[in-house]
Amino acid sequence: MNAAQQEIMRRIQERSARVGILGLGYVGLPLAVVFAEAGFDVTGFDPDPVKVEKVRSGQSHIRDVPAEQVARLVASGKLAATSDFAGLQEMDAVSICVPTPLRKTGDPDLSFIIDATVELARHVHAGMVIVLESTTYPGTTREILLSKLTERSGLVVGQDFFLAFSPERVDPGRKDWTTLNTPKVVGGITPACTEVAVAWYCQALQEVVPVSSAEVAEMAKLLENTFRMVNIGLVNEMALMCERLGIDVWEVIEAAATKPFGFMKFTPGPGLGGHCIPIDPLYLSWKLRALNYTARFIELASEINTNMPRYVLSKVQDALNEHGKPLKGNRVLVLGVAYKPDIDDIRESPALDVLGLLNQKGAQVSFHDPHIPHIRFDGGEIDCVPDLMSAVRQADCVVIITNHSSYDYPAILEVARLIVDTRNALGAQRRNSAKVFSL
Ligand SMILES: NC(=O)c1ccc[n+]([C@@H]2O[C@H](COP(=O)([O-])OP(=O)(O)OC[C@H]3O[C@@H](n4cnc5c(N)ncnc54)[C@H](O)[C@@H]3O)[C@@H](O)[C@H]2O)c1
Repeated sequence: MNAAQQEIMRRIQERSARVGILGLGYVGLPLAVVFAEAGFDVTGFDPDPVKVEKVRSGQSHIRDVPAEQVARLVASGKLAATSDFAGLQEMDAVSICVPTPLRKTGDPDLSFIIDATVELARHVHAGMVIVLESTTYPGTTREILLSKLTERSGLVVGQDFFLAFSPERVDPGRKDWTTLNTPKVVGGITPACTEVAVAWYCQALQEVVPVSSAEVAEMAKLLENTFRMVNIGLVNEMALMCERLGIDVWEVIEAAATKPFGFMKFTPGPGLGGHCIPIDPLYLSWKLRALNYTARFIELASEINTNMPRYVLSKVQDALNEHGKPLKGNRVLVLGVAYKPDIDDIRESPALDVLGLLNQKGAQVSFHDPHIPHIRFDGGEIDCVPDLMSAVRQADCVVIITNHSSYDYPAILEVARLIVDTRNALGAQRRNSAKVFSL
């Protein structure tokens, strides 16, 4: 172990290493808080002045991070936030938690990673440890970060500074598995990089899982998310097949799930949502395309999942038809627009696609979501209806897109004229009701 490694290891073990988190979003803020709670002095760097100001004033813009915790850590001097990236110079250990969306063309948009790395490259110094957390295709840490961090600094990775990838696994809204206790995979560019990054994360997180390279860590995350995407695609196709066969897919799934081994339950729905599952596997298929390989499972699952909003549209049309009504001109109320239950995130939510499609067909659309006051979708901007039950009563058709737990489903079932339930939110009650159409 050389002197640079010894020094950073000492600072990590004494928790005197100054920690920088690039990006204070759903991933970065919880991570910053976990490191600050472990005793490190943490600074969050984010170009968004609103987020920075919120943290500084002791507020939280992330539901899973209580404002009281942010306020306490800021008051004690353990947590700070800034948009001035010059402060990176002072940092010993930096995690990059910036977005990795898709471009309109469906290709990876690495611009946030590149911007953050260019900024970091101005301040990288001997003894620094840098960990990329943003989900991306295998090779990003080595091909993009390493080259940018070394081209001007002349530093040698694994000797002068340490670089690793560690995928974030946070599941927003979840209480049992959090940033603190979810095992964290870490893979470095060199064995020394893994050693330093593992030593750092071990100080704050309950379980760290070292792997042999950054590429293994990058690919592990994509396996996890591709697994979910493909299985959701499979069960969505089961729903399409069951409809043609006249079989209740929800009952089939419950029956299959009684098998204690060899089966894992996934449920169909109106389409994929969120920042991860609809996007991350496409980073992998894009990378493989460049190697003349077609990631067939990903492409097929993506096609099935992407078409689910159209399937929901056809369900609404069929349901209204049964009641002798056209879609055009009739009132359709969408319940739940967040991408999953009990959260306030609408990124990539299929509800937005469903609303856009209904709107295109001339329906009078409205929505209710206890967590989201206002939305923009292809077709306009609307506010959440002010009174849930009167909106349910007035709607020609209610479409349950996200099964938030706070909804009183028996009451909704009682007063609604017609319901399309894409999540089996009504459970067994719907089976005897002529006014419920399910996926
Ligand atoms: N949200 C999740 O549930 C989740 C789970 C696992 C992994 N991830 C991955 O983690 C990464 C971050 O996702 P997120 O949900 O936290 O995104 P987010 O949009 O909530 O937060 C990202 C933050 O980075 C900031 N930012 C943009 N450019 C920056 C720069 N150059 N320097 C510093 N900050 C910058 C943005 O202002 C924003 O506050 C993504 O790659 C995502 O795929 C997300």
